[in-house]
Amino acid sequence: MSRPTESNIAASFLKIHDIITRGLTVSIETVQRARQHGFQDKHSREGLFNYIRALSSVLHSHHLTEDEVAFPYFRDRLPEAPFDTLIEWHREMVVILDEIKLAVEECEKGDQLESGLRDLEAALAKLDESWQPHIQMEMDEFIAKADALVPVEEQLRLVRRFTEHGLEIAVPHYLTVPFLLYNLPPEDRAVFSRELPAEMIQRLVPVVWKERWESMRPYLLA
Ligand SMILES: [Fe+2]
Ligand SMILES: [Fe+2]
Repeated sequence: MSRPTESNIAASFLKIHDIITRGLTVSIETVQRARQHGFQDKHSREGLFNYIRALSSVLHSHHLTEDEVAFPYFRDRLPEAPFDTLIEWHREMVVILDEIKLAVEECEKGDQLESGLRDLEAALAKLDESWQPHIQMEMDEFIAKADALVPVEEQLRLVRRFTEHGLEIAVPHYLTVPFLLYNLPPEDRAVFSRELPAEMIQRLVPVVWKERWESMRPYLLA
């Protein structure tokens, strides 16, 4: 399907899927590199673990937004869509997210970095294996059909609800909001920014939270 640029339902799902897909790819590649060559310094190591924490939180919040807001809204409108299968898949990915959390904690203990990175790479690879077919099924069976079912005004209202619900769960915001913004290329970022509170974009991310997220910089887009 074409990639709409307006803030409609399909565009909103595509953006969040793109963010998570990039987050997974960058995490896997960086962990593989770190296993072979180590980290450049303490800052880049801390940044990777913050980046993976943000990825996990954003992924979990996206799934809960689908389970609790998007799928209930569309269940009657798209009776053939495999919502139960998708929800079950979300549950399976929660188990993998727990493995990722444990592996990051292992890495941060200091003396278990090697085994921690090995476990982290295995868990991220497992997540990636589920993620790719999962978003493909969502695209084919749900997202590609959703736009046509809902008037434009209603779509804008729904997208706002998705964003508000997602943000409530995706914490800490000082990591997740920069993660969301800077895993998107500038054009998509500008559209996505308009869906977030102005204070976050103008003051919190660039000033107040800057020190807390800037270790993730090497893994984010300019
Ligand atoms: Fe999903
Ligand atoms: Fe999704």
